[in-house]
Amino acid sequence: MAVYREKSGVMSFDGLGFEAYSMKCVSCGSVYPFNPRLFSCPRCGSLLEVIRNQSPAVSWSAWRARKPGVWRYREALPVPGRVRPVTLGEGATPLVDVDLDGVRARVWVKFEGANPTGSFKDRGMTVGVTMARLVKARVVVAASTGNTASSLAAYAARAGLRAVVVLPRGGVALGKLLQARLHGATVVEVDGSFDRAMSMVLEAAREDPVYPLNSFNPIRLEGQKTIAYEIVDELGRAPDYVVVPVGNGGNIAAIWKGFKELYEWGLLDRLPVMIGVQAEGASPLARAWESGSREPVWVDEPKTVASAIRIGRPVNWVKAFRAVEESGGLFVTVTDEEILEAQRLLARRVGLGVEPSSAASLAGLLKLHSDGFLGEGEEVVLIATGHALKDPDSMATVNADVRRAEDAESLKEVLYQLAGGE
Ligand SMILES: Cc1ncc(COP(=O)(O)O)c(C=O)c1O
Ligand SMILES: [Zn+2]
Repeated sequence: MAVYREKSGVMSFDGLGFEAYSMKCVSCGSVYPFNPRLFSCPRCGSLLEVIRNQSPAVSWSAWRARKPGVWRYREALPVPGRVRPVTLGEGATPLVDVDLDGVRARVWVKFEGANPTGSFKDRGMTVGVTMARLVKARVVVAASTGNTASSLAAYAARAGLRAVVVLPRGGVALGKLLQARLHGATVVEVDGSFDRAMSMVLEAAREDPVYPLNSFNPIRLEGQKTIAYEIVDELGRAPDYVVVPVGNGGNIAAIWKGFKELYEWGLLDRLPVMIGVQAEGASPLARAWESGSREPVWVDEPKTVASAIRIGRPVNWVKAFRAVEESGGLFVTVTDEEILEAQRLLARRVGLGVEPSSAASLAGLLKLHSDGFLGEGEEVVLIATGHALKDPDSMATVNADVRRAEDAESLKEVLYQLAGGE
């Protein structure tokens, strides 16, 4: 990846409180002063992550005195206290316990569909768009398989910025596309896959007054790490396993970073194992993992019903491998059939409507379970990344019990038949 060139006269962050943060390269470890426009390491070209120079003074009791949500943990976010966030009340999503036939582990679903635009991306965008406003961007841009686009569009609207979303033509679920349009984003369609759209954004969106908010921007990932914070906040501990659908690999890396920080800051005793789930037809990381390699096996034409994770060249591959490796976890692949089956199971047995990509986490768990992976009483949190309404087509294909009633009498027949009467 090319190195981001700082323009002369780039704005100064002195005095805003950013001295507490630095940017660190995930490959060579070089450390640079905090710069929200620096996305890749000038030495080796790898991606960066935001680090704090010292542990912040934080405690669960102080955090819990605030209302729940991403900004409850604001000392952990790279946004100085005096900056007013661009927020829609994101985070604070339900952690729903689920009973799965035959599964001995204790399982919860973190339902990220309950965010303002219906996916976990809102956690990142609240921080990312806050930063965009701070660097005086006029346009925010992101390539997207859909959810980033809806989220970016909504937060840009909130901040009074123009949003441009770059989408693979025909590759985005209808709900997501319409959300982006509803919120007033400019939609740029490109031929080819998401990966092509992403490389175009990387090339085109480097300079003022444009600010890119894809997950190569580590500031966005800082918001997404609050998924980990909320899990520990609610359970009082980390579960044994956290299962995450993986596309670009940003989210699994962000969640792992969240757990590690809590551990380093004395707010957590034990780290979880991270499990990354990819769709069989879009599994550059899982395939490499299975063969023992730590170099992704790029997929030129990724294919899966789970359009949000239809990604063949994940930009965050170094971070994603590291999250899984450090935590002692693994990657698994699931088929489209397993994904759709898991989507139906969550909808009909649990009451949670999730989009196919999100159901990949349950499909992954079921696969691990059938491989004898999970022990009695072990605890698992599945990250359900986005809402079912995002992808109406995926809901249209389920078998549904649809009937007609001519009048109240025939409606009554249906009701009493189902109630087990005459
Ligand atoms: C619903 C959903 N799940 C999972 C992912 C994958 O997240 P990441 O690209 O950070 O791996 C995405 C990304 O677009 C998504 O929209
Ligand atoms: Zn480097």
